[in-house]
Amino acid sequence: MTTHDTVLVLDFGAQYAQVIARRVREAGVYSEIVPHDISAAEIAERAPAAVVLSGGPKSVHVPDAPMIDPAILDLDVPTLGICYGHQVIAQTMGGRVARTDAPEFGRTEFVTEDGSTLLAGQPDQQIVWMSHNDAVVVAPDGFRVIGRTADGQQIAAMEDPTRRMFSVQYHPEVTHTPEGQRVFDAFLAAAGATRDWTASNVVTESVEAIRAQVGETAEVLCGLSGGVDSAVAAALVNKAIGDRLTCVFVDHGLLRQGEAEQVQLAFGDHFDTKLVTVDARERFLDALAGVTEPEEKRRIIGREFIRVFEEAARAHAGDAKYLVQGTLYPDLIESGHGTAATIKSHHNVGGLPDDLQFELVEPLRWLFKDEVRAVGTELGLPSAMVWRQPFPGPGLGVRIIGDITAERLDLLRAADAIVLAELKAAGLDREIWQSFAVLPTIRSVGVQGDERTYGHPIIIRAVTSEDAMTADFARIPYDVLERIAGRVINEVPGINRVAYDVTSKPPGTIEWE
Ligand code: XMP
Repeated sequence: MTTHDTVLVLDFGAQYAQVIARRVREAGVYSEIVPHDISAAEIAERAPAAVVLSGGPKSVHVPDAPMIDPAILDLDVPTLGICYGHQVIAQTMGGRVARTDAPEFGRTEFVTEDGSTLLAGQPDQQIVWMSHNDAVVVAPDGFRVIGRTADGQQIAAMEDPTRRMFSVQYHPEVTHTPEGQRVFDAFLAAAGATRDWTASNVVTESVEAIRAQVGETAEVLCGLSGGVDSAVAAALVNKAIGDRLTCVFVDHGLLRQGEAEQVQLAFGDHFDTKLVTVDARERFLDALAGVTEPEEKRRIIGREFIRVFEEAARAHAGDAKYLVQGTLYPDLIESGHGTAATIKSHHNVGGLPDDLQFELVEPLRWLFKDEVRAVGTELGLPSAMVWRQPFPGPGLGVRIIGDITAERLDLLRAADAIVLAELKAAGLDREIWQSFAVLPTIRSVGVQGDERTYGHPIIIRAVTSEDAMTADFARIPYDVLERIAGRVINEVPGINRVAYDVTSKPPGTIEWE
């Protein structure tokens, strides 16, 4: 993606850098993350429209504090420093950073001076999100102070518009700074960056890149999982090379209600892809019969998946040289910017065997998840697919405690569909990270229509999370829980009790197995 104006984000601490890159892209300019020790010569070669110096966890005063090549600030490239980046600019250009006795964390009152370029049009007073111990106390020559925090001692924002250099102590990239996006807008305007990073341009360029990689004749294989990444990747490749793409969908019978049909509808009917659907439901049930241990279930599902996929690939796409992979930009960043050559197990349940020799096509490798969704929408994929929650490779196999049988799968699927539908109807589906039903092995006594019942409970699990590493149980209103419970018990024969899991992660995990 080099035809665009690019903003390079110099990374002093990965969490912040990714959020900054996303905000810049939301403002319509392509942005990439590079290590903070990139040289001025490398930056000059990339000829970015601007650079941003990110925040980071260190103090500029500690001996191994990450610094930049000072020549970067002489390149005449518009620069925005954020938090630590603000201090790096001050320190490198002759200002002064001091340890203060008034560290600021969290929501902080910020007062803007009149006549600023970076903060033009923003309120005189606003709340910003701070997180720092050190502070800039003297601005470098040529810089004007454009904002201070309430006590007036600390320089919370400064700029030198003639050199197009700007910096803020607070975090404009986080949602806790309500006016934050306007900082990026103003900075990109001052930098004169062209705002052409849109979903439709991403589609056009990805299609060109795929054609350039694959050429005029080669055949390409793609495994569809039912998830958003593989679907969007496949739709892009399909747009680029039409029916030279063969998609293989292994229906292992462990997807949620309607998901297998949705894959068929989207790819078999809507797109003119060669879609090979393998109905492997019986095979998975046979292989899983009597297995109750969670890790054993995972192993079996992973193993069977590989076998079935491999058989289908050999039978239907034996000549394929390329394999589509839904690797995203954060995967690349986390693997240290290397090429993501290994196939990540979470994309294909258990990973694919080494002897399937393919060159990878990774059309999403420069995209964040929200951009993948925007591209999916642009390509006309159904919204249920585009907005699908993260879903474990072993599927409902790890949401059924104990034996996996066709009957128990049907029971769980029916209850699970009601959970999802009611959360969606309540407008809660997008703020919830994952929500689903779990079927345990116990039974309990109930009474329905004067009859004693001895049925199964289901457990509702719904969590909020940023990245699945930690999670909190979602505060679903009681009336929504009540509607779910009522519908599940009335509409799903065999279920007579509904419980809500109020465990966070840690100490719980998101899934039950
Ligand atoms: P836990 O249950 O460990 O889950 O809190 C964290 C995230 O990972 C998903 N998950 C899996 N994904 N294969 C997968 O591809 C698995 O075996 C697996 N187990 C859990 C889970 O849905 C959550 O998003």
